Amino acid sequence: MDKITLSRPDDWHLHVRDGDVLKNVIPDTARRFARAIIMPNLKPPVTTVTQALAYRERILAAIPDDCQFEPLMTLYLTDNTSAKEIQLAASNAHVHAVKYYPAGATTNSDSGVSDIKYTYTALEKMEQTGLPLLVHGEVTDPNVDIFDREAVFIESVLEPLLKRFPNLRLVLEHITTAHAVDFVKSMASNVAATITPHHLLMNRNDIFKGGINPHHYCLPILKREAHRTALIEAAISGNPKFFLGTDSAPHSQASKESSCGCAGIYSAHAAIELYAEAFEQANALDKLEAFASFFGPDFYRLPRNTDSITLRRKSWDVPTELPFGNETLIPLRAGQTVAWHLDK
Ligand code: NCD
Ligand code: ZN
Repeated sequence: MDKITLSRPDDWHLHVRDGDVLKNVIPDTARRFARAIIMPNLKPPVTTVTQALAYRERILAAIPDDCQFEPLMTLYLTDNTSAKEIQLAASNAHVHAVKYYPAGATTNSDSGVSDIKYTYTALEKMEQTGLPLLVHGEVTDPNVDIFDREAVFIESVLEPLLKRFPNLRLVLEHITTAHAVDFVKSMASNVAATITPHHLLMNRNDIFKGGINPHHYCLPILKREAHRTALIEAAISGNPKFFLGTDSAPHSQASKESSCGCAGIYSAHAAIELYAEAFEQANALDKLEAFASFFGPDFYRLPRNTDSITLRRKSWDVPTELPFGNETLIPLRAGQTVAWHLDK
């Protein structure tokens, strides 16, 4: 197969930041995807519907004229999120989910939840209204090994949470381990997961190959090969619980190549092409469309897209850097090639 046509995909987990850089990063996503779930971890975070709608306007202003793209907004859950705000979010046409970051788990998560019990009234309202909870599934205890933080989170936080709120609609975001795959499969249809292109294509050796590479540092961190294989199996399984979410997370080159480098990998410039590579390596290109274009909208109770995109097997060179406001951004595969090309 040298050419594939897919219903236009959506990205169910995306960081686009704010301000000047929106016009640099939004076009990459808007040329590939019809919609994206926009992460609320700005500084300060997007915690109210009013803030989410204002952020949405700033994103809309950065979309190129020849693209139709819809940002799907989210709120950032804090210890103080009220049931009233959840009700407002659930009844707003532009807000589609609430994001749960354990405080300190990742980039800009300082205002995250300090103890899940403080969010019970908000979660109760989400369970009632059907507004999905998107979970960054890692414990923050510095004594837990960084490679075990997802597995420990599932056992110590997620399992008890879903026992308490069994009907909560929940997406375990950017899963990285066989434990997460097994857990999501074992739950009812209200629990799903997103998988990134980088966790499908790379394992933890890629952080250290030929010297430490800060551009392969993200959270949750890349895991060992057996986990990557488990993610591939989940993604190509045809199980509707697993769908596309890039977690494309731009940071300036300077803040990545630093003595205390930020976590996050930018993949928006080649996102669907990179998924095509991963599915092809697994001999499962025929499974890409459902993963990329059907299972996400089905979970979010939104219509599937009606237009399509075409990818061709044609290797292209990824730029060594991209503009990012007054700075630069190093994209995934910078200076290397991607095997599939998007017809534009
Ligand atoms: C994300 C970011 O930079 O905002 N970083 C990352 O490594 N994925 C935050 C997140 O989703 O964890
Ligand atoms: Zn993310």
